[in-house]
Amino acid sequence: MTARAFGISIEKASGLPIFQQIADGLSASIRNGVLPAGARLPPTRDLADALGTHRNTVVRAYEALSGAGFVVSHVGRGTFVTELRDRAVTRGDATSATLDARAGGLPWASLMSRTAASESLQRGDRIARRAWPADAINMSRFEPGADLRPVETFRRCLDHVMRKFGAKAMGYAPREGVEELREGISRDLVRRGIPASADDVLVTAGSQQAIDLLARALVDRGDAFFVEEPTYSGILNLLSAAGAQPVGVPCDDEGPDPAALERLTRPGVKGFYLMPNGSNPTGRTLSLARRADLVAWSRRATVPLIEDDYGADMYLDASPPPSLRSLDGEVVYVSTFSKKLAPALRCGFMVAPRGLHDHLVPLKHAMDLGSSALLQYALAEFMERGYMAAHLARTRDIYRERRDALVEALHQHLPREVTFERPSSGVLLWLRLPGGTSAEQVFEAAHRHGVLVSPGSVNSVSGQGAPGVRLAFCTETPDRLREGAKRLARAIEAVLGERRSRGPSLDLV
Ligand SMILES: Cc1ncc(COP(=O)(O)O)c(C=O)c1O
Repeated sequence: MTARAFGISIEKASGLPIFQQIADGLSASIRNGVLPAGARLPPTRDLADALGTHRNTVVRAYEALSGAGFVVSHVGRGTFVTELRDRAVTRGDATSATLDARAGGLPWASLMSRTAASESLQRGDRIARRAWPADAINMSRFEPGADLRPVETFRRCLDHVMRKFGAKAMGYAPREGVEELREGISRDLVRRGIPASADDVLVTAGSQQAIDLLARALVDRGDAFFVEEPTYSGILNLLSAAGAQPVGVPCDDEGPDPAALERLTRPGVKGFYLMPNGSNPTGRTLSLARRADLVAWSRRATVPLIEDDYGADMYLDASPPPSLRSLDGEVVYVSTFSKKLAPALRCGFMVAPRGLHDHLVPLKHAMDLGSSALLQYALAEFMERGYMAAHLARTRDIYRERRDALVEALHQHLPREVTFERPSSGVLLWLRLPGGTSAEQVFEAAHRHGVLVSPGSVNSVSGQGAPGVRLAFCTETPDRLREGAKRLARAIEAVLGERRSRGPSLDLV
């Protein structure tokens, strides 16, 4: 629900304190230019009356905006929107520009671009900066656990490559990636029903670079780009860096809701980014019917589908339905070795329709002059020797065991109001919190109870999506996951208990 006053929209977000909802609505209006630099905010009493809330609540919201550098108050005159350069980064009561100037340095805060100061980057950064308790159980980290990284077999491949290619392995790689690796990848794709030759594959520095390239190639500032709601936080950062307007498409247990998708469709949308297998953060696998619907929609709406298939080989039950790319050759296919093997390789790849591929190759070369030849040769060797297939078979068994341990413990300990589906692909599980619960509060409480989870707020386009937390079951053993579920259940109980004792929160509208 939305409250409107003085031309400003304030989304009602259950779980957030009312002053925060007002502050968020106002900061959104400032960011999107409804309240331009120099504009005077409505008097606190008038805005409070219009919203049906207490004046002190609006005063708190203005204080929060002032603390974040969005506005400045002048006694007797009112509260005014600051210039963007004044608000780039604020710390406490002094802007970092002032701190830099005092220290005799350049005023970096005022030099920062909008991209660097973007809200989605700051949301994730706040969590990344947190110090973790040493014995905490980590259900936040989304990468293969240290015990699952094939150090010895990969070392053998590196040794072999150094002997076989020597100096060649230490030079720049071809723009598209080394041929041996592109061949290995294309053989693997064909095995999974995706027609591709080595010439169709572009190797990238992780799939993050592939997505970045796509955003750079497709987006002009202000273009709309569809994502699942909630979605992978990294795509939100990249879209915001490219100046796109991310639009969250509501999803149900099968995937994006077709009716909602039709409703949101409009001319000029530049893409729809999806993770069909083990979507991050929900762990959901897209149903076959929805895959077919999406491909038909993409053709009708002339909007490209970007299929991030990092989870293709990480199925835990039956193998997943056919990939979108195998249903339609106009789909852009992206994947990575980070999640199924090792992120340190920084090795991802993309198969794009020719009309797009030919633009991406020079763009990638302009950005990095090529990904590491040495690591690409070693990875190609790892695949050629059959180590990859063996590694996948082993890790699938281990992840299945970890998932089952976690699922069982969650069923045993979680309060009944907290629900989840058992993921059939990937290593992520999404806990749906009861309406009105703050995912950030659960994150904080879990932290205090010695368990690390990811709050869904970083995955939401609006920052205020349906409350949930993401659990990754890749880095901890079954025993530690069971203990983690117990600790998390206690943390959630504490948050729910506090909410109950506070009673129903005030309604904005
Ligand atoms: C869904 C998804 N896609 C892409 C990436 C990027 O990973 P990388 O660049 O290591 O391939 C991540 C990383 O967490 C992810 O979760």
